[in-house]
Amino acid sequence: MADKLIIFDTTLRDGEQSPGASMTKEEKLRIARQLERLKVDVIEAGFAASSNGDFEAVQAIATVIRQSTICSLSRANDRDISRAAEALKGAQRARIHTFIATSPLHMEKKLRMSPEQVLEQAKQSVRFARNLCADIEFSPEDGYRSEPDFLCRVLETVIAEGATTINVPDTVGYAVPELYGLFIKNLRERIPNSDKAIWSVHCHNDLGMAVANSLAGVKIGGARQVECTINGLGERAGNCSLEEVVMAVRTRRDYFGLEVGIDTHHIVAASRMVSQTTGFVVQPNKAVVGANAFAHASGIHQDGVLKARDTYEIMRAEDVGWSANKIVLGKLSGRNAFKQRLQELGVALDSEADVNTAFAKFKELADRKSEIFDEDILALVSDESVTHEKEQYGFVSLSQHSETGERPHAMIVFTDAGREVRSESDGNGPVDASLKAIESHVKSGAEMVLYSVNAISGSTESQGEVTVRLQNSGRVVNGVGADPDIVVASAKAYLSALNKLQNKSDRVAAQG
Ligand code: KIV
Ligand code: ZN
Repeated sequence: MADKLIIFDTTLRDGEQSPGASMTKEEKLRIARQLERLKVDVIEAGFAASSNGDFEAVQAIATVIRQSTICSLSRANDRDISRAAEALKGAQRARIHTFIATSPLHMEKKLRMSPEQVLEQAKQSVRFARNLCADIEFSPEDGYRSEPDFLCRVLETVIAEGATTINVPDTVGYAVPELYGLFIKNLRERIPNSDKAIWSVHCHNDLGMAVANSLAGVKIGGARQVECTINGLGERAGNCSLEEVVMAVRTRRDYFGLEVGIDTHHIVAASRMVSQTTGFVVQPNKAVVGANAFAHASGIHQDGVLKARDTYEIMRAEDVGWSANKIVLGKLSGRNAFKQRLQELGVALDSEADVNTAFAKFKELADRKSEIFDEDILALVSDESVTHEKEQYGFVSLSQHSETGERPHAMIVFTDAGREVRSESDGNGPVDASLKAIESHVKSGAEMVLYSVNAISGSTESQGEVTVRLQNSGRVVNGVGADPDIVVASAKAYLSALNKLQNKSDRVAAQG
């Protein structure tokens, strides 16, 4: 029996820390259900002490998810740890993940603490946490840039206090594979009680080596937990990508000799869900989940694959859920087929009335578009009329005129705190005119830092999915909108971003 590699997903915590990727409680719950379907071993659901919103999200996920361990991050202090324990009360299996920085730079400049103070705080925090929860993970933040002698003392101490998992973060993505692997190997060999804990890797992707570093931590260092996120979402250049690490270990079982418990058939759906929820588009050539990952364009490759698939394919597209995702519903599909698809997609609507509202929207869309893909369904159930999430602004209707040689003009109707507003503007193009019309009423003053349009399912008949990233007073938010008319999709995305800007958050930064 091969060793098991534990998959610890932190999309909902570290992933959510990427600028603009913040999610609502309902969005987090939906993704958590998909992670459970993937059979992720540990879901880091958030950082309970960072805000009331995050506390509630961790609490909701801990109550609903039964198969995966639910974890909350917490700084190494009693208040954060108590908050994490409180949020995790309803969990079938709970984990508290506590951390404190141990590199000379972080201790001196950020924490303004001496190494002895950090050692003492780590020790007291793990002791405190262990009295509240049996499963304790400890991370020395910026671990890879820490002095090995000091790090050994800290880690030996926290293991003696009962930490059950030791995670060694490469917080700034500075490591290279061989050195990172040897770093972990060395720690495990030098720390006398290292065998009392499971060792874990947590790599950021600043130099594009997060997956390679994580795999070296496993192969050379002997780590048996990988921390990762769907689509590699995460601070700055992101984290180690779950789909890549899982498929690497599975495809190269001959080399790694490890088992992963992930049901890979749900990978593509998870990738789509995270991309659609956060507005972080997946690049077409992204390994495993990119639109081109299994597309063979060159004649030589196509010919080879037709003759024998393994000439150019090392994985099967269906094993990661590509074909399952192609399922199409249409105009003639009934309410039951629609409801079943919702269940398969992990969407749990609150009531039969909500299913009816979503189904009516589905029928409306099916009248305009002959094939309805999973992405279309996910987009329509995110609508306010289905989620009942009270938003400041809501799209009602739009008309616009554009003609060669004339300046485009748009007239939009939308709700502002439930009241209908009508607003018009000219612009450089129909999208510009529509967003200017919204802005002329809202006067947010936000700067647009990204605008992107994607066809949800390939053809011009498909829905356009627009992402708008706005920045205002240091906050960055992403809004996503989908509609067969890309001008309408743009207006919806803009309103969704404005709604997110409205939700003032009192959030504490995890690594602040
Ligand atoms: O990158 C990091 O150091 C972290 C820790 C909080 C684990 O995310
Ligand atoms: Zn991190």
